[in-house]
Amino acid sequence: MKQIVITQHGDTDVLKIQETSDPIPSSDEVVIKVKAIGINFADILARKGLYPDAPKPPCVVGYEVSGVIESAGQGVDSSKIGNPVLALTRFNGYSDKVCISEKAVFPIPESLDFKRAAAIPVNYLTAYQLVYVMGGLKKGESVLIHNAGGGVGLAALDIALHLGATTYGTSSAGKHSFLKERGLNYPINYRNHDFLSSVLELTSGKGVELIIDPIGGKNWKKSYKALRSTGRLGMFGVSTVTDSTAGKVIQFAKLLLHTPWYNPLHLMNANKSVFGVNLGHMWRERETISGWMHEILKGIEEGWIRPHVDRSFPFEQAGEAHAYIEARKNIGKIVLVTDG
Ligand SMILES: NC(=O)c1ccc[n+]([C@@H]2O[C@H](COP(=O)([O-])OP(=O)(O)OC[C@H]3O[C@@H](n4cnc5c(N)ncnc54)[C@H](OP(=O)(O)O)[C@@H]3O)[C@@H](O)[C@H]2O)c1
Repeated sequence: MKQIVITQHGDTDVLKIQETSDPIPSSDEVVIKVKAIGINFADILARKGLYPDAPKPPCVVGYEVSGVIESAGQGVDSSKIGNPVLALTRFNGYSDKVCISEKAVFPIPESLDFKRAAAIPVNYLTAYQLVYVMGGLKKGESVLIHNAGGGVGLAALDIALHLGATTYGTSSAGKHSFLKERGLNYPINYRNHDFLSSVLELTSGKGVELIIDPIGGKNWKKSYKALRSTGRLGMFGVSTVTDSTAGKVIQFAKLLLHTPWYNPLHLMNANKSVFGVNLGHMWRERETISGWMHEILKGIEEGWIRPHVDRSFPFEQAGEAHAYIEARKNIGKIVLVTDG
């Protein structure tokens, strides 16, 4: 089988294709012949050495794939061989074959092709946890989705609209018309305008009930100020760490310096709450994740979950795919496709 290996931390040229022996499934595992691989911002951070959860190089990252079950261990019903599936992987997704527990695998609804199926697991599970499970968004409330044009952002928009909320979203200006077509009520160009002033202006000074923020650092401080009473701030990423070209230590030091500390007494008096989400640390909660995935796949059938693939790149062009996301060109998901 072929894998895309991060040979060392660095630019896109550190990604190299290597061959290794085919995996053999143990009793409760299946081998998926991979058709499409979802790329996540975390993969880029891992390549740059800015993602503490990632294995040390040489390593293979990748959190999600879609494909066909090629073989199965003795404990798995063999009639599942040949079934189209999507899977949440813990690294190793950048491969043309993936060996994984049968419990981490879900059937692909008929209406989905392999590319869109690979766009579901990380984006929609993260958004579901942020917006619905922990954010508790309700009909009639308002939500500010940072990075609304990204993979998690579009997923959060689908869920917020389904719940009947008013939606505000920050993104580069070039993504606004697409976001409006998808149903976003108020796009905000955060790169030219102060998003805090924009949100307060649009809400007559009140702010919003829920904010989901993957930017981190100073952005979290501002987001907190944009919450109205009963507001919740969901923090789930530190994209800002890639803004500087300084060394790793300096980048993290700057991030920490600007990261807010929340005082319980202040939270109490402000009637606000803050919470964090890291899907990558939910591996032991397999049943919970399966329950969420069940709801998401039901949403596909019902039409309110709409995974959007901006572009697909051939397996051999993982570097180009990373560069495209780093240049902020993507709207929604970028996937790699194999020739299998
Ligand atoms: N905690 C979790 O479980 C979890 C799960 C998934 C993702 N995340 C986090 O959520 C964020 C979005 O992830 P994603 O995979 O959906 O990727 P993505 O949204 O497709 O990320 C690319 C977009 O991020 C925006 N962006 C903001 N700051 C940026 C920066 N400093 N450099 C480059 N782009 C920047 C750009 O949009 P604009 O052009 O609109 O600025 C860019 O197009 C990342 O921080 C990721 O680590 C966390």
